[in-house]
Amino acid sequence: MVPERLIRLAKLAGPIKTGADIACDHAYLSYYLLKHNQANFMIATDIKANPLENAKRTLKPFRDRSELRLGFGLQPLTPSEVDTIFISGLGAETIVEILQEGMERFLNATFVLQVNGNPSPLRAFLMSKSIFTEDIVKENRHYYQIIVVKEGYKKGEQIWQGGVPILRIGSLYRSELGREYLSKRLGDIEEALSGLLPDDPRGKDLRAERSLFQELVNTKER
Ligand SMILES: C[S@@+](CC[C@H](N)C(=O)[O-])C[C@H]1O[C@@H](n2cnc3c(N)ncnc32)[C@H](O)[C@@H]1O
Repeated sequence: MVPERLIRLAKLAGPIKTGADIACDHAYLSYYLLKHNQANFMIATDIKANPLENAKRTLKPFRDRSELRLGFGLQPLTPSEVDTIFISGLGAETIVEILQEGMERFLNATFVLQVNGNPSPLRAFLMSKSIFTEDIVKENRHYYQIIVVKEGYKKGEQIWQGGVPILRIGSLYRSELGREYLSKRLGDIEEALSGLLPDDPRGKDLRAERSLFQELVNTKER
């Protein structure tokens, strides 16, 4: 019932006193963390009421160790009540919107972020934030990147080297799955380029991305 993607998120987080499962939908992540006693208490939130009904059903066995709250992003939370904040299953733009609105209120919390689709806008936003670790999961032919943000570690700009193309992968090209993802991306780039006229301005960025990724895929550095 709990997807591998969410189990991986749990693995990257340490023990949790009170966690928040933002945009929880069915709250499977909260369920997993509570069931395995990794979290003492979970606050599951969503912007819509219907998903919270799903969450209510899922978390029935843990009614005394969980709470459901309605609202946008981090707004339903107060800063001192949570030590770990999960935001998963959303596109990069939405995660950035949520973080921009409220991240600064939660300086002591660890953020465990899992992005759907192209992670570049999220990686760009996190350039000035401290990155604890990154991971990549493949499930049902989709690649999901996870970034854990925690005070006291290197900034994104120190570990991701900057520049637009590398934003898509960060330092994950050092892992086997990261390179597999890049190979797939290279295939997508080839396909996109084959559909463009030679003087199409979009070709320039795609060719730059292709040349960087070809280099990264072949890199011996681990
Ligand atoms: C695809 S589900 C993700 C569920 C779960 N987090 C996961 O990773 O499987 C997306 C959920 O995000 C909620 N959502 C979208 N934007 C949101 C926002 N700005 N704040 C809170 N919840 C949001 C939607 O209502 C929906 O239930």
